[in-house]
Amino acid sequence: MEYKNILFTVEEGVAIITFNRPKALNAMNSEMMGELQDAVTACKDDDNVRALILTGSGEKAFIAGADITEMQNMEPQDALKFMELGHETLRLIETLPKPSIAAINGFALGGGTETSMACDMRFASENARFGQPEILLGLIPGWGGTQRLSRLIGMGRAKEIVLGGGQLDAQRAYEVGLVNKIYPAGQLMEETKKFAKKLAGMPPFAIKMAKHSLNFGYDLAFDNAIRLEVECCSQCFSTKDLKEGTTAFLEKRKANFTGR
Ligand code: CAA
Repeated sequence: MEYKNILFTVEEGVAIITFNRPKALNAMNSEMMGELQDAVTACKDDDNVRALILTGSGEKAFIAGADITEMQNMEPQDALKFMELGHETLRLIETLPKPSIAAINGFALGGGTETSMACDMRFASENARFGQPEILLGLIPGWGGTQRLSRLIGMGRAKEIVLGGGQLDAQRAYEVGLVNKIYPAGQLMEETKKFAKKLAGMPPFAIKMAKHSLNFGYDLAFDNAIRLEVECCSQCFSTKDLKEGTTAFLEKRKANFTGR
């Protein structure tokens, strides 16, 4: 598929999706969200893709939010479709059986913070800024901001951000646990790719089971959650990669995982 609003490349097992509307600070319109969904589905279906990076083009923004120009004249039924498309796409990223990293190179506001939170990890440049400013526009977050933010940083802090509409710089985002790592802007992509390539070399079935257990165990009652973990863990014993990993350890050599 030809994309108009994103760039999509794959290098050494790592897919990179770049939001590419720099003149609008990569604001997410429905067309871009549809393209994102298509590209993520392609990543899911391609065994050669072992990790995913999302980032923004230009030096200023990851995503400055949902496209306000498109939203301004929406009727509630149009907004419902736009929000559902976003949720469907972000959930696809979150539950992708492959690891994902958001490389946040500037503003990640509203839908930008929300898109980054659907990724497994967030690496930020020193100039990154986060926030849920929807309240200032007369609406509320619609792509998971009221749900994923409280799960990541706690209810009190999430309420401060969602109700107050304020922004967090990279350092504050790191302190509250929204961001995993901070890098100087010039090093962000290089460092993110380095880590993504490391993840791409991990045994894929174990990665899939680890994500499944983390994602789906989180909202279960504890006894059910540990049961889920036991089942996911024991399934790894059906793979050649487990044999290879344990044998390599005992033979004191580096494991060569084949994905089987
Ligand atoms: N939608 C549409 N266009 C946007 C945009 C957005 N979210 N954010 C920025 N732009 C456009 C601006 O309109 C401007 O276009 P023009 O050059 O044609 O005027 C261009 O990008 C550059 O933006 P600014 O001139 O405003 O740049 P700045 O450096 O002065 O400010 C900013 C940067 C603080 C990010 C500011 O652009 C801003 O506040 N943007 C909106 C942030 C926002 O409210 N996001 C939430 C959207 S709602 C949402 O996301 C809902 C949801 O949960 C799904």
